[in-house]
Amino acid sequence: MKPSTTRPMALVAAVLASILSSACTVDATLALTCKAAAAIDVRVNLQMCESLMVPKDKDAWGMARNAADEGAINAAVAANAINKTLLAGSASVARESLLMNAALGMCLRRFEQATLSFSNASEEIGRRRNQLGGRNKLDGALAQVQECKDAFAMRGLPQPQPLAQNTTDAIQMAIIANAIICTVDAAVASNCKAALSATVDSTCKAAAASDPRVNLQLCVSQLGVSISGRTANAWSLAKAACDEGVYKMILAGSDAATLLEDKSTVPSNKPVLETCAAVYDKAVMAFTQAGEQIEQRNLAAATSRMDEVLAKAQEKQCDGAALRALVPTPPQKLLQNAADSVQMAIIAKAIINLIK
Ligand SMILES: *[C@@H]1O[C@H](CO)[C@@H](O)[C@H](O)[C@H]1NC(C)=O
Ligand SMILES: *[C@@H]1O[C@H](CO)[C@@H](O)[C@H](O)[C@H]1NC(C)=O
Ligand SMILES: *[C@@H]1O[C@H](CO)[C@@H](O)[C@H](O)[C@H]1NC(C)=O
Repeated sequence: MKPSTTRPMALVAAVLASILSSACTVDATLALTCKAAAAIDVRVNLQMCESLMVPKDKDAWGMARNAADEGAINAAVAANAINKTLLAGSASVARESLLMNAALGMCLRRFEQATLSFSNASEEIGRRRNQLGGRNKLDGALAQVQECKDAFAMRGLPQPQPLAQNTTDAIQMAIIANAIICTVDAAVASNCKAALSATVDSTCKAAAASDPRVNLQLCVSQLGVSISGRTANAWSLAKAACDEGVYKMILAGSDAATLLEDKSTVPSNKPVLETCAAVYDKAVMAFTQAGEQIEQRNLAAATSRMDEVLAKAQEKQCDGAALRALVPTPPQKLLQNAADSVQMAIIAKAIINLIK
């Protein structure tokens, strides 16, 4: 075999291997495009990218357009679901429901706007000329969907399903469409890369250098997603880590509550779960307060609140060891959400410390 063909052959073999190892067949051109998109933007979820519809001519513009259309569908479905929920729940006056309704109302408007932004992006991409035009519309969609997530986080509420899934998917579609557009030409690709991650990258690296507990990869990918469509600086990144931490802690608490109500839960497991539900509640409160202090640029108070979060979340009766000891199987989802939340607190605190 001539040396010049060795590399492409190896690439084809690698792509084939990855296709064969996945459950369903992924179009080879799509797989390559997604890989290139992920190399430009660490936030790209390869699996979701590879689930896109492939246009007949297999061209990148068409793939990007399909991603934008998929985003529009997700946003429209989410808006529709919120409408139904609001109409069904309008008689309820409980405080929780009032907060929930306020968050849902804000989300409805954001998703209606995002549906338009995605559709406009799709049209712009369809013209196959102006890369920035499509990307600007996608940035708009991303920011609007993010604001829906914020509407819940700022009220200390979990985003209900299926809204949460549709929100995550819409965010991912905006990121994927954007990154695929960036693959179209090399000059744009390097601009995309530079614009995207410089601040997130350097801040996460500095945070990891200052605290070995910081998971650098998670910091870059998670904060990259959270900060999408917003200005990245140490304050906004600390706030984004804090918001994500609150969100995961709320999920951990609701996992614990679900297990407590579940009839199949072994009774001897209940005391630990009860302790954890209470611990997470308090941690959510401290976490939310830390977020407020970050918003007010109050370093000392934000730091001490974050210490409180870490102390609470790692309380002896409800630490990873106590949960892992539960029989017959430790609650994996709860453990993961709790661990992610603690990691976000560590990241937020390390970033706050950089500001000093
Ligand atoms: C929205 O989320 C639900 C729940 O995960 C899912 O079944 C549905 O397909 C999603 N909608 C779209 C348009 O992806
Ligand atoms: C939500 O409901 C209102 C009032 O019924 C309607 O005007 C609006 O078009 C609906 N929006 C969506 C996205 O379904
Ligand atoms: C989308 O395009 C329409 C028609 O050109 C325009 O009126 C609207 O303001 C645009 N909306 C967004 C969010 O880009």
